[in-house]
Amino acid sequence: MEKAPGKKSFIQHPKLIITTIVVATVIGLSASGLNSENETIVVKHDNISQADSIASVTAFEKVYKVLMSPRCMNCHPAGDIPLQGDDSHLHAMSPVRGHDGKGLYSMKCSNCHQPTNSPGLNTPPGNPKWALPPADMKMVFEGKSARELALQIMDYNKNGHKTRAQLIEHARDTLVKAGWNMGEGRKPPPVPYNEFVAAWDEWINKGGIAPAK
Ligand code: HEC
Ligand code: HEC
Repeated sequence: MEKAPGKKSFIQHPKLIITTIVVATVIGLSASGLNSENETIVVKHDNISQADSIASVTAFEKVYKVLMSPRCMNCHPAGDIPLQGDDSHLHAMSPVRGHDGKGLYSMKCSNCHQPTNSPGLNTPPGNPKWALPPADMKMVFEGKSARELALQIMDYNKNGHKTRAQLIEHARDTLVKAGWNMGEGRKPPPVPYNEFVAAWDEWINKGGIAPAK
């Protein structure tokens, strides 16, 4: 590739450079200004005391144990096939996510996963909303460090477009509650439901702070 002669002349015009910086800054400022007016800001990080941020991170440690437990992670896989069992192996017969998370063709999740748990061992757990997160926002838990997962959940553009209030609400979602009632033979997440909700609320209300790693 030949050298771009235009580049040198750009550098020779400091006014042009300054103008560019000013314009970029103005665009940046107005974009963030827009954002702060917007309810989509999940948590504002100014005015959070050190005590609150420590409490927030401590609460997230408990939340993280639940998120990474098989009852939750099995539906938040890194790939497009759900996971099964306490060892989180790939789902038998390989149903896939599909664009809406509800499966594809003859392997729709709801073909086997009924609105309620099926009785007996090794039968499909049930919920009316049984599905993976959609293909355009996979909300992966598998393989994420505590820090990565906290940042993901606090990011409106990665958490299924949830505001802070909707995140708080999500801990009361029937699909989340289903984790503690997944049918015979499946052990619940390692923290009781009420304790999980308390830790979830505390984490978010005290700043939604991500741990250092
Ligand atoms: C052909 C029937 C069938 C289809 C289709 C199906 N599943 Fe399943 N699924 C099952 C059965 C049966 C089990 C229980 C397996 C066991 O416990 O041995 C199960 C278990 C699971 C589990 C494990 C729960 C746990 O915590 O161990 C998850 C998660 C799951 N399915 C998600 C899905 C999703 C999401 C879809 C759609 C993308 C789907 N399944 C489609 C039959 C199906
Ligand atoms: C049957 C599959 C399934 C199971 C089991 C499941 N989830 Fe989800 N989860 C979803 C789907 C689908 C979404 C996206 C729906 C939405 O955004 O409202 C989601 C979204 C989420 C989100 C918000 C997204 C993010 O990453 O920011 C959180 C938090 C969450 N789930 C937590 C849990 C917890 C905690 C458990 C276990 C107690 C759990 N989930 C079990 C399917 C599941």
